[in-house]
Amino acid sequence: MADDKKSQQIEWSSRFAFILAATGSAVGLGNIWKFPYVTGENGGGAFVLVYLLCVLLIGVPLMMAEIMLGRRSKENPIHTMEILTEEAGADLNWHYLGWMGVAAGFLILSYYSVIAGWSTAYVVKAFFGSFSGANASEVKAIFDNFVASPMQLIFWHSVFMLATMVIVARGLEKGFEQSVRLLMPGLFALMFLLVGYAMTTDGYFKGLDFLFKPDFTKLTANSVLVAMGQAFFSLSLGMGAIMVYGAYLPKNVSIAKSAVIIAGADTVVALLAGLAIFPIVFSNGLHPNSGPGLVFETLPIAFGNMFGGWLFGVLFFIALVFAALTSSISLVEPAVAWLIENKGLTRTKACVYSGLVAWLLGFGTVFSFNAWKNVKLFERTFFELVDYLTANLMLPVGGFCIAVFAGWIMHQEHSKEELDLPGEHLSYAVWKFLVKFIAPAAVFLVFLNVVGVL
Ligand code: PHE
Repeated sequence: MADDKKSQQIEWSSRFAFILAATGSAVGLGNIWKFPYVTGENGGGAFVLVYLLCVLLIGVPLMMAEIMLGRRSKENPIHTMEILTEEAGADLNWHYLGWMGVAAGFLILSYYSVIAGWSTAYVVKAFFGSFSGANASEVKAIFDNFVASPMQLIFWHSVFMLATMVIVARGLEKGFEQSVRLLMPGLFALMFLLVGYAMTTDGYFKGLDFLFKPDFTKLTANSVLVAMGQAFFSLSLGMGAIMVYGAYLPKNVSIAKSAVIIAGADTVVALLAGLAIFPIVFSNGLHPNSGPGLVFETLPIAFGNMFGGWLFGVLFFIALVFAALTSSISLVEPAVAWLIENKGLTRTKACVYSGLVAWLLGFGTVFSFNAWKNVKLFERTFFELVDYLTANLMLPVGGFCIAVFAGWIMHQEHSKEELDLPGEHLSYAVWKFLVKFIAPAAVFLVFLNVVGVL
């Protein structure tokens, strides 16, 4: 991408560049911060199993659908839906889908930036040796003191939001692409290292059991919804982020292969995070359901006590911030692309406006951890409400509509032509079946289940 007025004329330099960007969008706080804590809050194994099923049966086919829609129109998500409905001769109301995606992107970015701000602050804390030799209660005290201070949270939230907007404004320049190339494998390596440390703790097998031994009595209708929402969130689906990246994808790249690689990498990172964190939880007498602070209350214990922990701690939080940056830029890109293409704004202006809105919204999340901790609507803080609304409602509804559009509205010859699946008809038929029936039905049933109709 560049600071061009017509961002749809731009293409990724290679298949690898696309996979890198889309994996960058998918892998982020959702894997390392959110997956472990929602798994902890929802009882472990059975939740993980439902999550994996959602990734496989809904996530992968939907990711293919999003890439396909984006590439076919080569436009921002709102315009994509307009162009493609026209092509299919369908109702123009479909473009509201693009709007919902843009709204979801803003809402998610508002709190994403706050949590990414925590990670940025933790780079500095790690650098100054705050965790050196610290035990579980000291690490928890560091976290509690930190989130109790709105000024600190606002400061780091602002730093992160500014960084996001500077990158989006300049486009994904070479320098950034190269640092991602380095930092993504770096993050993988550090995750493996942490799992290695976790293996040496006496809570390792308890952690394994917690993650992989399903106890279905712990599964409620709501936790199934959270697992599905987490699959959408983690794979960046349902709001047009992957669609807008698909718009920059050259014609000759296999959509199916790309989707499998992206979803696979995303799932591996989430599982590694779980494998690193839960053993530390159990060997230090912590609780798996400690909420959004979980990763910040566990991994520093490892860094404070392992060999070379200072260095690995600094590197880990740097890698986490980069992983968050490659996700946050994709949260705002649909809106920015739309402002440029349809409203004639320059890229810089589009970034300033979008950034300001998301930044201001983020204050609600900042205060959810201190001043407004006890201000609740539907038993949820502002942060919890925005998170629930986006991940568990807006993204699945968006995904449902995308699946229906790709499976029922778009002409068969068009999707066939775009996907260009090997092996004659079988693989296409499998995709079509999943996207036409399984994905929409699953989302629908999970919703029904939560409202108590089932
Ligand atoms: N997938 C990102 C993560 O796991 C978050 C995200 C959601 C990014 C939706 C874009 C769109 O951190």
